[in-house]
Amino acid sequence: MAEILPEDRALERACELILAGLPVAVPTETVYGLAADATNGEAVARIYEAKGRPRFNPLIVHVCDRDMADRIGTFDPVSARLADIFWPGPLTLVLPLKAGAPVSPLVTAGLGTVGIRMPRGFAARLAASTGRPIAAPSANSSGRVSPTSARAVEADLGERIPLIVDGGAASVGVESTIVKVEDGRVQLLRPGGVAAEEIEAVLGAPLSRGRAGATVEAPGMLVSHYAPNATVRLNASEVRTGEALLAFGPKRIAKAENAVAVENLSLSGDLREAAASLFAHLAALDRCGAHSIAVEPVPRQGLGEAINDRLARAAAPRGDSTIVSQDAEVAD
Ligand code: TXA
Ligand code: MG
Repeated sequence: MAEILPEDRALERACELILAGLPVAVPTETVYGLAADATNGEAVARIYEAKGRPRFNPLIVHVCDRDMADRIGTFDPVSARLADIFWPGPLTLVLPLKAGAPVSPLVTAGLGTVGIRMPRGFAARLAASTGRPIAAPSANSSGRVSPTSARAVEADLGERIPLIVDGGAASVGVESTIVKVEDGRVQLLRPGGVAAEEIEAVLGAPLSRGRAGATVEAPGMLVSHYAPNATVRLNASEVRTGEALLAFGPKRIAKAENAVAVENLSLSGDLREAAASLFAHLAALDRCGAHSIAVEPVPRQGLGEAINDRLARAAAPRGDSTIVSQDAEVAD
């Protein structure tokens, strides 16, 4: 059962757990987040495990100051202006991911962009004290509503995490507003704690919104941005000529020795390790230039479900609309 500590006594313990790679539920001004060290892929995999998320969607990275944000994302002038005005606060900016950014590819689900926000209060202190950017989705299990109190987190995730930091009722109570600047236009990806009108007042121009006037880019649509150039062949039983191999576990499929390149998700067959390194391995095999990647079977239990989901997306034809619309309905 999770320990619950009031926020004025929790910082040291929370830092210890974060640096040990464990997830901690923390208050933010919007909703409670399930925080982990964004630089540590296995720590991030534990977030997915605790939430029981059936797929990997990109997570928001929480920073304590602009320096930390600048190490992770590239600010265009409009995003920089919005950060100046609305940070710290309930605004998330989606920015191009900097090369060499100290963020596990599992945080961005392998995308070339990253959602960054500077929260108020405990979550920012956690980033400052650990020196680590903090990946945190809302602290609810997949499909449930975002929690706005420590009790709500306890009722949902209490058995699965070591610590819940109690900061009282979240003051904003809805998630952060997410925007992305593209070609000088500011897109509203998710309405939230900063009213669209407030942003429009700063910009002196309307935000661009999705067709339905709501969210432009649902998580699933984002996921379709990242697909390897190579064809991906799932549940392979042998390696064919010219193929690269994405292996899993200690045993190899037939003709593995013919593979032009091999990456192993986890030699010991550990699903958490496999999740943590999935996007990095896929990208590495893609870089080797093979026309096709054979993927060994990965078991479907636990994190294996999300791993298989991601691999299926990588293998699906580009722009498969059934996959996109399915995903758009998933609450995360
Ligand atoms: O207020 C909040 O934003 C809370 C607190 C904990 O910070 N967090 C939160 O996280 O709501 P989550 O994981 O439940 O929602 C994150 C949203 C997802 O819809 C995801 O698709 C989007 O942010 N997102 C993250 N990275 C993105 C990216 N690179 N591009 C577009 N959207 C992104
Ligand atoms: Mg959520």
